[in-house]
Amino acid sequence: MTADPCTYVIFGATGNLSRVKLMPALYHLEMENKLPEGTRIVAIGRRPWDRAKWLSEVRDMIEDKAWDTLDEAQFTRFSERLFYHRGDIDDSVCYTQLAELLNEPQFQKNMAFYLAISPGDFGNVIEQLSLVNMLDEEYGWRRVIIEKPFGYDLESAQSLQRRISRYLSEEQIYRIDHYLGKGMVQNVLVFRFANVMLEPLWNRNYIDHIQITHSEEFGIESRGGYYDAAGAMRDMLQSHLIQLMTLVAMEPPATMEAEALRDEKVKVLKSIRAIPKSAVHAHAFRGQYSKGTLDGKKVKGYLEEENIPQNSITETYAAMKLYIDNWRWRGVPFYLRTGKRLAKGQSTIAICFRHPPLNFFRDTKIKTMNPNWVLMGIQPEECIRIEMTVKEPGLEMRTRTSSLDASFRNSHEKPVDAYVDLLLDVMVGDRSLFLRFDEVEYAWRIVEPILQTWAVERDYIATYPAGSWGPAESRRLFEKEDQYWRCSLTPECN
Ligand code: BG6
Repeated sequence: MTADPCTYVIFGATGNLSRVKLMPALYHLEMENKLPEGTRIVAIGRRPWDRAKWLSEVRDMIEDKAWDTLDEAQFTRFSERLFYHRGDIDDSVCYTQLAELLNEPQFQKNMAFYLAISPGDFGNVIEQLSLVNMLDEEYGWRRVIIEKPFGYDLESAQSLQRRISRYLSEEQIYRIDHYLGKGMVQNVLVFRFANVMLEPLWNRNYIDHIQITHSEEFGIESRGGYYDAAGAMRDMLQSHLIQLMTLVAMEPPATMEAEALRDEKVKVLKSIRAIPKSAVHAHAFRGQYSKGTLDGKKVKGYLEEENIPQNSITETYAAMKLYIDNWRWRGVPFYLRTGKRLAKGQSTIAICFRHPPLNFFRDTKIKTMNPNWVLMGIQPEECIRIEMTVKEPGLEMRTRTSSLDASFRNSHEKPVDAYVDLLLDVMVGDRSLFLRFDEVEYAWRIVEPILQTWAVERDYIATYPAGSWGPAESRRLFEKEDQYWRCSLTPECN
């Protein structure tokens, strides 16, 4: 499939997402010669800027990224594609003027509208675009990219869906979960389905439990307003981590086409055992960071951050245990956890295998043997490792853990940001890495009882010092004594 030339229209173009991710990603596509001839990028922003000012802002955005030096020839070519449209998204004039602008012959009739705006504005912007016929596909395709969160809970997600489906067909909607654009996340599927060695073991007969962790050293930065209303469960777990879980657990799809892939993911989501409200505490744990030390520096607690009410009980750490009731996974716990201001920033999938059925080494110095683990580092380190038990050299029968490393990136191959891939997919019309509404809906169903219980239990939240690995009490989620949070991708540090 090839990318069609199109006009990319970015709502919220002066905001953080556009600055840090979208504009640098589009520039990256330019550098890779992936932007077809005729592609234009129209920024919509409230600020009273002209085109020259916008170009200098974009230059800063790109220079802020890790590129050593900006390639002037590439940047000039990129600049020719850039336009700035000043407008207030709450004002209908913004849309009539935009429609006039985009009617000019220099703009392609294929249009992608990227909503990098507050989730509360998604419905309104789509309705306004429709009123000026910009979602009408008579002369070219019209696609809308919607950032997460899609809704605040099950009911609001359903009502947002009802509202936007009056103006858009499902084929026009690209719901982003940027985790699906990460190279290593796509590698989970390749690792599982392009190698036969592990597939026979990938089930309840051999796997003890699975852990999916996303930890961050960052606090909430300047996002207090958004974050305090969302919390870690909505911000990370309901979306990114549940998506990772579906990729680890799904059956091989019939083809790698969008619908086949998404059908399999939905089957996993449908098989997740519902958590009754009476069992929420056995299945979920929340915590909030208090002040602490990170990288030798003192950092504030959550309640001292900007725009956070003094009595907030919003969770900055959330952990959850889920079971998938199907033939492959019945009885295997999946532990998902995420937190801000933790000891180390990383995303990992850790698969712990069962112990061998017999311990042949009982009468030797070997007391307990570590189980095998398959470890997948999503970021910052991208790796796939298998931990095995081997005999230590020497006369005694002692063992150690050794790991087989299938790291796949050569030193000259730089990682590509997830948004680069996803922005290109929109131009190609490939929706396999975007969420279908039923995926979003089922993900909300899974976390709904937890969110509802937490919403009424407002007296207490466990705390953890910034810079730690989260509240120690969260280990009560483990179903066995010998299970523990796996924090490292190397055997020695456990
Ligand atoms: C976003 C969340 O979706 O993902 C942020 O809103 C979080 O709170 C971010 O920090 C993590 O993404 P990444 O790509 O930096 O791991």
